[in-house]
Amino acid sequence: MPAKLSVNIGKLKLKNPVMVASGTFGYAEEFRDFMDLNKLGAIVTKTITLQPRRGNPVPRTCETPAGMLNSIGLENPGLEVFIKEKLPILHKIGVPLIVSIASESDPKDFIILARHLDKSKAVAALELNISCPNLQHTKLISQDAKETYNLVRGVRKVTQKTLITKLSPNVTDIAEIALAAQKAGSDAVALVNTINAMCIDVNKRSPKIAMVTGGLSGPAIRPVAVRMVWEAYRKIKIPIIGMGGIIDTSSALEFILAGATAVSVGTANFINPKVSVEIIEGIKKYLMKNKISSIYKLIGSLECKR
Ligand SMILES: Cc1cc2nc3c(=O)[nH]c(=O)nc-3n(C[C@H](O)[C@H](O)[C@H](O)COP(=O)(O)O)c2cc1C
Repeated sequence: MPAKLSVNIGKLKLKNPVMVASGTFGYAEEFRDFMDLNKLGAIVTKTITLQPRRGNPVPRTCETPAGMLNSIGLENPGLEVFIKEKLPILHKIGVPLIVSIASESDPKDFIILARHLDKSKAVAALELNISCPNLQHTKLISQDAKETYNLVRGVRKVTQKTLITKLSPNVTDIAEIALAAQKAGSDAVALVNTINAMCIDVNKRSPKIAMVTGGLSGPAIRPVAVRMVWEAYRKIKIPIIGMGGIIDTSSALEFILAGATAVSVGTANFINPKVSVEIIEGIKKYLMKNKISSIYKLIGSLECKR
């Protein structure tokens, strides 16, 4: 009998637990020629804001050992253009669509964005990006449990859609913040966004990216991300979507064993655009080989004395 790969995230029913991470898959059109998009568990869009954003000055990215640094600064066409031009194309793919939203400075933008997107049948869920390190805020909402609670609570009041809260790894206690999101009514948490980091060009004696600091992603951050999923899993009851350096089946399974119900593939899409589909096949094979009837038997099944 084939292994069951389907998972539930709030009201969302995913045919498999593999999705693509916000900001690393554009609005999916760019990947159409490389893969059958319909095979994905879900698609998370690049974060949108109320107004269009040009993003940060270049250079915005640089390569790092086992990863990359970025400071894109949420370049996006804004809500109106997204609804008119991107959403109809994304809807046609036929895969649950998770729209990532953020505010530029006023947290009330989250409420306005959620109200608008709540009306659209094309939107399966909202991901609250309260963890982008590339805006000129001194502190992120997701760096404070109370602020996280208040933000999620506010959005929860205006939408029936599945709510996913995306958290930052740049905190001391991720489980405390995840718990605040759960208490406020979030249906799931997405762990993790990028880690604050910096690279220097020693010949020019200058930072490698224009904004000086940016967010580190890729395999370099995986052990940190897996640890955070494991810590949150032991404290919360809502599903966790794990991400950070997933490049193959084995790295995706690490997150599932640590407690993630689903996983998201980010930076690896830039290296191999088909990697998510390969991971779906790989998880299927792993379950069959180990005679595991459902992915649910694997979630959080880490054998561990602590
Ligand atoms: C170029 C780039 C752009 C990103 N843009 C966003 C974004 O718009 N919104 C968001 O929530 N996360 C964004 N992220 C973070 C990813 O979604 C993901 O959380 C992070 O990169 C860790 O996963 P990875 O190591 O597999 O890339 C971005 C990451 C990269 C590398």
